[in-house]
Amino acid sequence: MCGIIGYAGHRPAVPVVMEGLERLEYRGYDSAGVAWPAACGIGVARARGKLSALAEKLAAMPPVLATCAMGHTRWATHGEPAERNAHPHLCPDRSVAIVHNGIIENYQELRQDLLARGYAFQSETDTEVLVNLIAERRKTEPDILRALAVALREARGAYAICLLCEEEPGVLYAARQQAPLICGIGVGENFVASDIPAFLPWTRKVVFLEDGEIIRINATSREIFRISDLSPVGREPASIQWDMQAARKDGYRHFMLKEIFEQPRVINDGLAGRLNAAHDLPALPELDALPIPSRLDIVACGTSWHAGLWGRHLLENWAQIPVSVDIASEFRYRERLLLEKDGAAIFISQSGETADTLAALRRGHDAGIPTLGLCNVVGSSIAREARSVIFTQAGPEISVASTKAMTSQMLALALMAISWALRKGCMEQREAREQIAILRDLPSLLDDILPEMRVRAQELAVKYATCKNFFYLGRGFSWPLALEGALKLKELSYIHAEGYAAGEMKHGPIALIDPAFPTFAIAPDDALFAKLKSNIMEVRARNGKVIALTNPGVELDADDLWIVPKIPAPLSALAALPALQLFSYQMADYLGKDVDQPRNLAKSVTVE
Ligand code: M6R
Repeated sequence: MCGIIGYAGHRPAVPVVMEGLERLEYRGYDSAGVAWPAACGIGVARARGKLSALAEKLAAMPPVLATCAMGHTRWATHGEPAERNAHPHLCPDRSVAIVHNGIIENYQELRQDLLARGYAFQSETDTEVLVNLIAERRKTEPDILRALAVALREARGAYAICLLCEEEPGVLYAARQQAPLICGIGVGENFVASDIPAFLPWTRKVVFLEDGEIIRINATSREIFRISDLSPVGREPASIQWDMQAARKDGYRHFMLKEIFEQPRVINDGLAGRLNAAHDLPALPELDALPIPSRLDIVACGTSWHAGLWGRHLLENWAQIPVSVDIASEFRYRERLLLEKDGAAIFISQSGETADTLAALRRGHDAGIPTLGLCNVVGSSIAREARSVIFTQAGPEISVASTKAMTSQMLALALMAISWALRKGCMEQREAREQIAILRDLPSLLDDILPEMRVRAQELAVKYATCKNFFYLGRGFSWPLALEGALKLKELSYIHAEGYAAGEMKHGPIALIDPAFPTFAIAPDDALFAKLKSNIMEVRARNGKVIALTNPGVELDADDLWIVPKIPAPLSALAALPALQLFSYQMADYLGKDVDQPRNLAKSVTVE
């Protein structure tokens, strides 16, 4: 995830763009850059690291007086965080520059073709491929708008781009496909950006671009075209009512709520570039670097550990690889034999900086086993030190309570399990395709059900807000969800909650049940439903109140049924998880807790 902004107006443009980038920095901060029309050609400044590094570089240069410019703040996906990979990228004769947010999925094919035509690349990015493709298409189609449209029709994937061409110094072109892009309309000035806060101090009048559209702006006008045939599009501007603080959260009350609602996009982004050309089977080149392990250790902390527990079921059931899942702080001190022939270990961490997970990874190295990092933050310690890395691509997660990161980890684990299962021949392609189809359908299903889910979460939170304790119960694939539901409730609302494997209740914990100690049962209509139903009856027989998260059509006796659409297990967990997150969110908000920064916690636990 990256942030882009473009400005065409009457003021010095680079300071405007830099201010906009500051408000987009939450989208990534591995490197940043700006480009502007200069006396001869296109001027560019880029720097690795946070925006402050770019600001220092610009401060050391003569002031830039151009009234048109564009900028980028990067969350690295293709290519390490380095200045050569920072945007803007230029074509070889430096006549065209672009900034880009997203992933061009077929960039390798396009790159090969351009290499064969004599293009040399300065970076490892898919963005440089795109700008070179535009340059190549200009050879037969000199008009920049037409050349851009032709190139974009060849590019597959998700993108929001902004383009500056030497021959049209006061003009910017921008386009979108499955990545946000908004035009801000000022007086004698126009903007394009990934997010409204980038230009909110200057205008509240906006036009939202749709997928498959190009916009051309200068200081006084804007025109929208369809990429497919360059036919013009008319669209009325809208007016934004948010203040700056709320706008940084996209109008959501808290970052956590925004991040919960981002999960459909996270699934889309996690699939982009991870599927074959037909989009029906996984394509994970990162895994090909490793032999298929005969057994696996999964090591992580907190929510990432819960994702690992869920992933174990898929790796065992689908890929038939025996898996142990450990908490990193335990794993690093356990005397156990890691040196198993053909084994491997997966280290899951959103931040990539969790001290225990990092120490466990180093222990894996010492033992000589292949290590695989599953990380969200590019350039983090675990990402750098693991032998192989799969980036979960959830984008920056700001709320301390992890939500969308878990979804992205589960998605990556599912793709890994399918990949290995296919390579081992223990899953048929037909079944793999069915699972991928479920994953591909999930984003639109979640988009549809999340608002209603939030309303139900709110009702239940109000009803149960006086409780001091909670059980969360689940079986099989749903046990890790029970653990995660309990963790979310305690870390956000400070209500004591225990996550249990439902079958363990009668081995002691059921003694705690009374009318004031409710149970949240995760009861999907799957192979273990009948067993879980019996556990719910045992709780109710002891006057325990039960909220049951389940699917339509089941017969279940509970105080409160929470029905979510049925999706085949185990991927059903990706639709149940947001309900647990929303329940905790609504509870904490209702109780007046600090949702985004709960007491005593930090986003990244870098000490033991
Ligand atoms: O960055 P990591 O995934 O390694 O972090 C692990 C845990 O610290 C993290 O998941 C923590 O449990 C969250 N606060 C849970 O919401």
